[in-house]
Amino acid sequence: MYKQPYLIEYPKIGNTLQGYISVAEKEKLPFDVKRVYWTYYTPEEVKRGGHAHHQLEQILIAVAGKIIVETEMPGGIKDRFILESPNVGLLMPTYCWHTMQYSHNSVQVCIANMAYEESDYIRDYNEFKLIK
Ligand code: TYD
Repeated sequence: MYKQPYLIEYPKIGNTLQGYISVAEKEKLPFDVKRVYWTYYTPEEVKRGGHAHHQLEQILIAVAGKIIVETEMPGGIKDRFILESPNVGLLMPTYCWHTMQYSHNSVQVCIANMAYEESDYIRDYNEFKLIK
């Protein structure tokens, strides 16, 4: 019933001598893109996130550095993802409680299916735990 989070591998075009290009084309974007934002300079000791969303789906990519993403779905299924390849994204479905911790050099790009709307957030963990 709920979609679970999963990794998406993007093409890695190039080689060690020339460098690489990765690309997210339509068939590897499971929704219409409405927003792209990026997160950077987060101190290593800070855990960001700590919320879920009613409508938002997004793909997180560590285009630099390493990001540890912990997820929990309604019903209690928990996962832990380590993003450290610029050609790998994590699809974060709706109703996915998540936290992120960043290496000092990391840059996270998020590709999202909707505009920023605070009313879409579930920021209270107890409220999240009530979702069946
Ligand atoms: P939030 O989504 O809680 O960040 P994170 O999940 O990384 O901890 O957003 C932090 C703040 O930034 C919050 O006040 C809302 C604001 N914000 C926007 O104004 N627009 C955006 O597109 C995003 C993602 C956040």
